[in-house]
Amino acid sequence: MAETGDEKRLPRIVHTKREIREAVAAARAAGKTIGLVPTMGALHDGHLSLVQRSVAECDVTVVTIFVNPTQFGPSEDLAKYPRTLETDVAALAKYGVDWVFVPSDDEMYPPGHSTFVEPPAVADRLEGEHRPGHMRGVATIVLKLFNVIPADIAYFGQKDCQQSVVIRRMAEDLDLPIRVVVCPTVRDSHGLALSSRNAYMSPGEREQALAISRSLRVAAELIAGGERSGDVVRQRMRQVLIDARITQIDYVALVDGDSLVEVGEIAGPVVALVAAHVGKTRLIDNVPIG
Ligand code: PAJ
Repeated sequence: MAETGDEKRLPRIVHTKREIREAVAAARAAGKTIGLVPTMGALHDGHLSLVQRSVAECDVTVVTIFVNPTQFGPSEDLAKYPRTLETDVAALAKYGVDWVFVPSDDEMYPPGHSTFVEPPAVADRLEGEHRPGHMRGVATIVLKLFNVIPADIAYFGQKDCQQSVVIRRMAEDLDLPIRVVVCPTVRDSHGLALSSRNAYMSPGEREQALAISRSLRVAAELIAGGERSGDVVRQRMRQVLIDARITQIDYVALVDGDSLVEVGEIAGPVVALVAAHVGKTRLIDNVPIG
């Protein structure tokens, strides 16, 4: 389709597995490479950076928008999770996305669905401890999406560090014929990692939330300055949060980026991670160091 101003080409929106399977099969038969960007919608520049990368690297890009109920705990924000399909599609139109797959809950989990992916061991700590069942729901929906949309490359964000490690591990362990690419975290000008959940926060809470990325910067600075004790770094990170009156801290971690095991002595690359509540909003962020 010809380019008209800002609009590249309108993405085609499909709601059924059958339609998206047919579209992808036709593209594959024509020798095209397929990029997949799974999302839960409420798209922001973080999501769009993944989309941009897929469009740049693949002939055809499929974005999925599905607020996956199986990855939300009973007391979590499934019902109030932002749903902004119209603006999402308008944003995707600017990037030259080919297909947007927006299934209903029933389409992905028809009555009788009862098979789940047992996530790898790297899912056990961190989010695994604080959101029981979350990674099982993520691994299950991601595997289902990989099966419905047999892409060459799937794009995920470093923002959800553990999620991307879990998916990489699952792809390797289950011999999935797909390449998993992890893209850097996109932040606002103050350092706050973009997240669909940021919309829940008041201006005051957003200000308070900046302590999370600040604590990650402190970790990076300490390590760059020669600090080698994991405990010292974790303690200083925690202090930055407490100084900002963030007291409901799920975890402050400094881990090996592959195993996600806490490091004692810092001798190589690590990832600093934080999960904490600001008001009623649960935020996660991380930064790879070294
Ligand atoms: P969602 O939170 O919508 O995120 C979709 C993708 O965008 C994920 O890979 C996430 O890591 C990435 N992303 C989010 N914020 C980002 C940021 N600030 N910078 C870069 N990338 C960012 O993650 C999920 O949905 C779901 O768990 C999903 C994988 C779709 C399975 O339901």
